[in-house]
Parts: sequence; structure tokens; C-alpha cells
Amino acid sequence: MILPVLALLAAPGLAADYRPVYHFVPEQNWMNEPNGLIKIDSTWHLFYQHNPTANVWGNLNWGHATSDDLLHWTHQPLAITAEDGVEAFTGTAYYDSENISGLGTAGNPPYLAYYTGYFPSNGTQDQRLAYSVDAGETWAKFPGNPIISAAQEAPHDETGGLETRDPKVFFHEPSGKWIMVLAHGGQNKLSFWTSSDALKWAWVSDLTAEDVSGLPSDVKGWEVPDMFQMAVEGTGETTWVLIITPAQGSPAGGNGVFALTGSFDGTSFQPDPVDTSMLWLDHGRDFDGALSWENVEASDGRRILAAIANSYGASPPTNTWKGMLSFPRTLALHESGSGRYFVQQPVDELITVGSSLATIQNRTITPGETLLSSVHGTALDIQLTFSITTDAVLELAVRKAGAEQTVIQYDSSSETLSVDRTASGNTSFDPAPGGIHSAPLVPDASGLVRIRVLVDTCSVEVFGGQGEVVISDLIFPDEASDGVALQVTGGSAMLRSVQVRGVSLN
Ligand code: FRU
Repeated sequence: MILPVLALLAAPGLAADYRPVYHFVPEQNWMNEPNGLIKIDSTWHLFYQHNPTANVWGNLNWGHATSDDLLHWTHQPLAITAEDGVEAFTGTAYYDSENISGLGTAGNPPYLAYYTGYFPSNGTQDQRLAYSVDAGETWAKFPGNPIISAAQEAPHDETGGLETRDPKVFFHEPSGKWIMVLAHGGQNKLSFWTSSDALKWAWVSDLTAEDVSGLPSDVKGWEVPDMFQMAVEGTGETTWVLIITPAQGSPAGGNGVFALTGSFDGTSFQPDPVDTSMLWLDHGRDFDGALSWENVEASDGRRILAAIANSYGASPPTNTWKGMLSFPRTLALHESGSGRYFVQQPVDELITVGSSLATIQNRTITPGETLLSSVHGTALDIQLTFSITTDAVLELAVRKAGAEQTVIQYDSSSETLSVDRTASGNTSFDPAPGGIHSAPLVPDASGLVRIRVLVDTCSVEVFGGQGEVVISDLIFPDEASDGVALQVTGGSAMLRSVQVRGVSLN
């Protein structure tokens, strides 16, 4: 059954329950990270770890939704089902445009989806393939599964194939080979495999934490690899990028997402030394299992990431759904005197929906003033550009009513951006959702600080500067907490431009 998300929002009893306006959540029940992100023709396909029968992790299938704009999602039937005692864990999708696998035809090449088969009966993990010859609408399991058996994994995995998962697969033009990257969880390593036909695979190398110079030793438990080539903007160069979700050691504690740059020769990945100030793609608690859309047409050219925003398992106080997709964000690589750094921004599609609620231009704010207090909304896109005096602190409160508020703060003396969830609403469902997450953010060359804040019902995603710093956190405020307030303490700020947009999907 195909149900548009908007119809669901209108259904009695579902409008509440913290269902976001412009972020994807399952129609019902559990999701964890995205899988197999791929654009086919003009359609963005989202697959995701989904338990269709309960609101907890388990019974994992690939859920499926499609969108023309990364904003309006249509729920689709399950794409890859748990069957015969084998669940469908995380993986990725790729277009076999030359029909190298032979699973399609020259005139109708197949789309390939690689996933981990998980046997809950004994914990075994092997690697499997599904394919689509109808532009991603339906997926058939490859009859020759598994394509990599637990026995074949065993010599390359300390647990003998109990911990080998999350295949990232792509075709590597220079070597003419298919590449698969597998994660080995607690072994803090990835293994690389190659194939000539996308079906039969051979191990070629490992990348371990010891190979990554400068990686902090508390970053452990590697999962969900993504890997692709990317331009270093303004240099004419390209580099390889490897994205990993570790289970421990992120800036906000617990799991997070880091990105390495390096070289790749078709066999092994040689990471550049890590600069820890540029390692993490997010400094909040709720951005894990990030993958990027493949097969985006060159005329678009964007590398777009999405992750699961939920680090508290089944604990969040939602009843009809559990787990939200982060808002899709572009990833780019810039270079400055001090090195290369990633920048991320919400996809521009966001500004095609909603309407302006307030604007401020060229106005100084001083202590004791409160701006934006007439603005109300629970789904907002706020952009601030300002200069600020030494020792001043600019505070933007959202989802505010009485003492309840989530505060985005820029502290000029420490050049720090932060999100304070201390008074954000319900934080008692888990030990992790309160407190403050911070990241360094320096003003740009002309002394301006830029902050973009996406608010949507149960989340804030805060992009600092050009997007070199992001902080993503879930919040669970009272439905009635819809106020906004902009204040400064300890000095003044010159607000060059403030724009508040209410986001609604029609
Ligand atoms: C990451 C992860 C993956 C695995 C999936 C199972 O959160 O543990 O390694 O494939 O979840 O749902």
C-alpha cells in the first residue's frame, strides 16, 4: 500500500506524537540508519533499516520511500525483506550501467543493492545482493546469495564472520573493478574486497585504526562505511573520502560520524593524517549511520548525506514511530591555509517550501532586548548573519514557552557554537538527551558569524559558518512551546541579516 506522508499527518491520532513536518520518519514503527541511497531518473530513493512490526530494533528489513524533492516522501512497500531466518542489515546501492553483473540487459541495466544478511539465530553475518530491473520499484534477491559467505569472511574477521557487515559497493573506473568496503565493528577496521563481475568477491586489504595517524584511541566500533571521490573545491584536485560511524568516541559521546580523506588505488585506502578539529561531521548527539546518495546526475553534482537522528534506541517518547532521518545535507570539501575541511548545508530544496515569518537587517541588538518574540512555529528555518563584540554571547531560543526552551548560542570570547538542551522538554527518557553540545566556530574573514538553524517538531540541526560545524540534536518539547527569542548578553551584536521561515509542505 502506498500512502503519502501528508495523508498520514491528517489521520486522527497521528498528527501529534512529535511527527516532524519536513523530516522523514516511518509510517509506523522502527527505523535506524538509511540504506542504499540512490537517485534513479528524477526519483530520490530512500531505503532504511526498518522493523515493520514493532517499535524497537529487530526484524530488520529495508524500508523504502521515494521523493522528487527530498522533502515530500511517499512510503513504498518493503524493498528487501527479512525471510527464511535472514534479516536484511545495512548496505548500499549502485547502478550497474554496463550490466556487468548480467542481472539486467544491455538495454535495461540493473540497479544493485548490497546488504548484510543477519541470522538472529546464531549472530552470523554474510553479504547479499538484491537487484532491480524496474528502476528501483521492486527488488529481487539474487538466487546465488550469499555472495560472500561467513566462511569466506572468517579469515579476515576475528569473530569468524559474526561481525562483518554494511557493504559499501561502487565501481572503480581506473582499475575496472567493483569495490566493496565492509565494516568489522569492534575490531575497528574495514576490509576491502574487489570483483570483476559484481557477484564473486575476493578480499584485497584491511584498513585498521592503527593505519589512521592521529585518530583518537577512544574512537571505536566502526560501522556503516561510505566511500566516494570528491572535488577539493577551488583546487582542481580530487580526493577519496571515507565516512565511518563509530559506536564510541564522538564529540557528544557515543556514536557519531567521522570522515577521512586519502588516496585509493583500487586495492587499499591510504588515509591522510587526521586533524581532529576537522574529523567529525556532526558535534551533536543525533547523527549516525550517515550514507550518501549515489547516481546523482553530473548536472546536479551534489554529494548529499543523510543519517539516522536517534541515539537512544527505543527510548524516545514517540509511540507510532521511532527514528527520524536527518534533513538531507550537501557535503563538500574546501581547502584553506590550515588544511582541508568539510562543509555541509541543508539541501536547497528546503527554501522552495514555506514562507517568511520575520526578517531583520542591519540592526544592533544590545543586552535587555528580545527580538523575534512575535514569531511562533515548530517547523522553522532560521538564518542569522552577525558580527559580535568580544565577550558577548548571542542566544537564539527556539521551541520556547515559559522556562522551556532549546538555546542555540554563540559565545564570542571562546568562539564557540553550542546547543543547550538542558531545558528543552522531556529529557528524562534516557541519560543522554540533556546538556550542552559545543563546537569551535571562528568568524569569517570579514568578522561575520553565520548560523543556520533547522527546527522541526522534535529536532534542531545547527549549521555554523559555511557549514564547517554542525550540531544535530533531538528535542522533545511540549507541543505548545512554539516561541522564539533572540537576545545578547555581555556586549552587543550587529545583526546584518536575520531570516526566519516557517516550513510547511503542500
Ligand atoms: C549500525 C548497525 C549496522 C547494522 C545495522 C543493523 O547502527 O549496527 O552495523 O548493519 O545497524 O540494524
